[in-house]
Amino acid sequence: MNDLFDLTGKTAVVTGGTRGLGKEIAKGLASAGANVVVIARSISEEVLTELSKEGTRILGLSYDLQDINGYKQLLEHIDGEMGSVDILVNNAGVQRRHPSVHFPKEDWDFVMDVNVNAAFFLCQAAGEKMLAQGSGKIINLASLLSFQGGLTVPAYAASKGAVMQFTKSLANEWAPLGVNVNAIAPGYMATEMNEALIADPQRSRQILERIPAGRWGTGQDIQGAAIFLASKASDYVNGYTIAVDGGWLGR
Ligand SMILES: NC(=O)c1ccc[n+]([C@@H]2O[C@H](COP(=O)([O-])OP(=O)(O)OC[C@H]3O[C@@H](n4cnc5c(N)ncnc54)[C@H](O)[C@@H]3O)[C@@H](O)[C@H]2O)c1
Repeated sequence: MNDLFDLTGKTAVVTGGTRGLGKEIAKGLASAGANVVVIARSISEEVLTELSKEGTRILGLSYDLQDINGYKQLLEHIDGEMGSVDILVNNAGVQRRHPSVHFPKEDWDFVMDVNVNAAFFLCQAAGEKMLAQGSGKIINLASLLSFQGGLTVPAYAASKGAVMQFTKSLANEWAPLGVNVNAIAPGYMATEMNEALIADPQRSRQILERIPAGRWGTGQDIQGAAIFLASKASDYVNGYTIAVDGGWLGR
């Protein structure tokens, strides 16, 4: 492993790291040498075994990230088990689809709670420790809908716009103190979150036709950007959102 991208001995936390993009990010960070803590509402032995194949230490924690008041205790627990957190990936996210005219308030609140509130306050809790140690890498999962409005997903678009913006806010405050805060905006990725889109033949075809790379993305497509933003290679990258989208935004 090139020294610039080597994560040996680092402790990474990946929220929602048990499936979809989060699982691939966790694998990617482990393949670069990091010990990885995955946090999700439920953890299976199968996933932990899969992640352990890279040979680094893996810890799975069942936790509902909507319990924001428990973050300090959660981080103390991680500190005790795996050492201080060097890398935080705020990957957990949720989606709700309804025409805006009928969008239910409870779904709006749910999406904002997980995608914005949980992500921001986990940045705050982990950031406090990173600032004390004078180093750290935070990677937030933004979206193409940080830039665009999407269709029938107003809460998700609002939430991902917020993620991109608070990533910049945190970077402005924390860059001088040794903590890098950046984001990744995945394009259309074939994960469970997009099952409804993939199952709709018309929308699925329209999306595919607009992707310059000519295919939907996969979790593996995100690994390079995640390793880059977690490593020394990105020490002078602050507050930026990297699109990994097969060219979608340039079109
Ligand atoms: N799939 C895409 O095309 C796409 C595109 C752009 C952005 N993203 C973003 O990337 C991230 C991962 O997406 P994905 O497609 O892998 O999603 P996914 O639905 O497959 O996985 C999301 C993960 O988050 C976890 N999670 C959700 N709420 C949680 C909570 N309250 N507590 C603990 N864990 C919770 C789930 O358990 C799951 O492991 C999300 O932030 C998503 O918005 C995805």
